[in-house]
Amino acid sequence: MKRIGILTGGGDAPGLNAVIRAAVKTAIYEYDSEVLGIRDGYDGFIDGDRGIVPLTIDSVRGILPRGGTILGAANRGNPYARKVMRDGKEVLIDVSDEIIKGIHRLEMDALLVLGGDGTLHIAHALYKKGAPVIGVPKTIDNDIGGTEFTFGFDTAVTTATEAIDRLHTTAESHHRVMVLELMGRDAGFIALHAGLAGGADVILIPEIPFKFEAVLAEVRQRVESGYLFSIIVVSEGAKPQGGEQVFSRGGDEIYVPRLGGIGHVVGEYIEKQGFESRVTVLGHLQRGGTPTPFDRWLATRFGSAAVRLAAQGKFDCMVALRAGKIVPVGLEEVTSIAKRVDVNDDAVITARNMGISFGDE
Ligand code: F6P
Repeated sequence: MKRIGILTGGGDAPGLNAVIRAAVKTAIYEYDSEVLGIRDGYDGFIDGDRGIVPLTIDSVRGILPRGGTILGAANRGNPYARKVMRDGKEVLIDVSDEIIKGIHRLEMDALLVLGGDGTLHIAHALYKKGAPVIGVPKTIDNDIGGTEFTFGFDTAVTTATEAIDRLHTTAESHHRVMVLELMGRDAGFIALHAGLAGGADVILIPEIPFKFEAVLAEVRQRVESGYLFSIIVVSEGAKPQGGEQVFSRGGDEIYVPRLGGIGHVVGEYIEKQGFESRVTVLGHLQRGGTPTPFDRWLATRFGSAAVRLAAQGKFDCMVALRAGKIVPVGLEEVTSIAKRVDVNDDAVITARNMGISFGDE
């Protein structure tokens, strides 16, 4: 293995730099390989010389605790649908062959792709065209199949839990209902984990459609029992029974629609029923900042293991955490299962047993 490439696709997540650092150190110290960083996801391959940067031990010094990615990320970086101007009009073109040519031109023996669902789908498609890809599961949403945890998730849950703790004290002082909207797309993991860790009274997740009346009943019952405040955690993808998800912006051929606004819908409903409410949307605070020790630990193990797979020529797979071990899982399997909260999981049962409402009964 003479040379490997690394790219970070899609949105960022805390721990990306920790993966890059571990991969660079392992490649150089253990395999005497060169490492090239590709800037801004797959875009770097088609941006000429500007898009490629050599990664040395020096370039990764000090980046372990840093959030974001030193390589840059690109949300619109799908090489199968790249937006360009043609005759004054925006059109989508397939530049995937450019990626394959780039890998050959740069003589890369492997390409580590750090990404979420979309980026790993693209990696799998590129493998079928001959790219020697290895995936590393990144996302705060924890919605990638085949692995128990993605890196970035623990940091997001930590930030969200701290927000719940802070909302608790002010909610109690003012006898208010505090609604906290959290990220997660179509998976409720962040809301479920943070809601449980922060002691929320109601947790609304996409996997369990809710009834407004059931949420209200929980708030009312708490007031009648002498608890004059409530904490409602709402995942951005939650929706009412028989209703739709709420979006702050529609999608297009490249961007998925942007979820957002369900927290305000819930807060306004509760307020109209006579309970003073405030809504907080935590947003990108969940994605920024330094990774937790768990995420650094996981990201470091993932990065190093991905290089070991590269050295074995084990492509078209992703490093995954299963029963405490880092193992390879085929990208076909990873990209065919969308991981969602199992509504029969003990975490959901535990929450229910402890009187937390999911707004469904
Ligand atoms: O997938 C990670 C995530 O942060 C989701 O939780 C959220 O819906 C989305 O990305 C936000 O994306 P953007 O950075 O484009 O606003």
